[in-house]
Amino acid sequence: MLPTADLLHDAARRAVTYLERARDRRVAPATSAVEALDALSEPLTDGPVDPRDVLDLLDRVGSPGTVATNAGRYFGFVNGGALPASMAAAWLAAAWDQNASLRVMSPTAAVLEDVALEWVRDVLGLPAGCGGALTTGATMANLTGLAAARHALLERAGWDVESDGLFGAPPLTVVVGDEVHVSLLKALGLLGLGRQRVQRVAVDDQGRMRADCLPALDARTMVCAQAGNVNSGAFDPAAEICARAHDAGAWVHVDGAFGLWTAASPRHRHLAAAFGEADSWATDAHKWPNVGYDCGLAFVRDARALRSTMAMSSAYFAPTGDREPSQFTPEMSRRARGIELWAALRSLGRAGLADLIERTCGHAARFAEGLRAVGAEVLNEVAINQVLVSFGSDTDTRAVIERVQQDGTCWCGGTEWHGRAAMRISVSSWATTAEDVDRSLAAIELAMTRVHETGGARP
Ligand SMILES: Cc1ncc(COP(=O)(O)O)c(C=O)c1O
Repeated sequence: MLPTADLLHDAARRAVTYLERARDRRVAPATSAVEALDALSEPLTDGPVDPRDVLDLLDRVGSPGTVATNAGRYFGFVNGGALPASMAAAWLAAAWDQNASLRVMSPTAAVLEDVALEWVRDVLGLPAGCGGALTTGATMANLTGLAAARHALLERAGWDVESDGLFGAPPLTVVVGDEVHVSLLKALGLLGLGRQRVQRVAVDDQGRMRADCLPALDARTMVCAQAGNVNSGAFDPAAEICARAHDAGAWVHVDGAFGLWTAASPRHRHLAAAFGEADSWATDAHKWPNVGYDCGLAFVRDARALRSTMAMSSAYFAPTGDREPSQFTPEMSRRARGIELWAALRSLGRAGLADLIERTCGHAARFAEGLRAVGAEVLNEVAINQVLVSFGSDTDTRAVIERVQQDGTCWCGGTEWHGRAAMRISVSSWATTAEDVDRSLAAIELAMTRVHETGGARP
């Protein structure tokens, strides 16, 4: 039976109400709202429940327990907020319920994926003819790019890793910067290359890999460079890394989960420019471009290497001459992420994407300026959208973060930067306004004052 129009209208009405209230509510949910989630912890019912009652429970109990990421004052991790076009497309896509595995399963999903991948490749300044894949996020995009690297390096050594695995394979070397993102190490672990077996390269005061500290490289080495340090936003020196690696026949993979998107901005694209020399790239559309969760992207210069890594065939899954989405990505049945990605990019255009990047960087600079003005210490060079802040001792800094999170005006996370506790502010949402920054600054300043008055006591 089709869902009734009433049910879908009710869902839309509830969603709109949620969004309309999001700006006025606490960013993190109230403790009482989190406690109320216990109402969801019930045994699975024996019989069916009316979908209207299911939706009512979800909204009544679930909505207050969410984090208001869509309302402009969420600065946690590197999370954007879904653009209106992305969100609306997701609603329509839910009605379509397409499996984006094969072209025959959804011509629309396949075409939108093709188009969106090509738009992103172009915007990021990556080489024409790259192989591309949509993944759940940058973790899987890193895994995808690194799997293609593993394939290509071992193929050159006469080894078929997809058929024979790593047992007895010629050893590969993996080089990472000391500030490598943990998810890239996880991807290496999943690929049998080892989280710990990497050679780590020293970094500078912003977390950039020091090219002068690179070890000797060879044709069985993959070097993992970073475009956008998750804390400081800094970029590895890609030109030197790529030149050194390619002279030695090594592969360069780029984790550009958010930083690569600076390529979309005339003001910031110099930061990402040299990364186009690499061999594979991972990024996220659910971070800075504000596509709804989840949406990662992997690109590989040698499309054949990517396809050879990911392709599979059987009598019922016969590849055609066209690009089949699942022949380039780890999964088979999959969400049609290209729909929202296409819609978000189509709604922004090049100018909108550039504006999103530049506006959020501008807000980060406003944060840094405002925090310095009240005596906080900004620990990083604020080159893009990331700001690291200390409020004195580590105890004080942690206490300020806790107070800010409890206050609810905005939400900022914590981290450690060069052995010091730091607040991490990431401005990644299209919805953030200068007024949001100023309201958040006032809340942070108040928390800082209270902490200094009470000698760092917890709220
Ligand atoms: C540099 C970097 N790489 C990888 C990731 C992992 O991304 P995802 O959570 O989409 O898998 C992140 C997430 O913040 C990141 O900042």
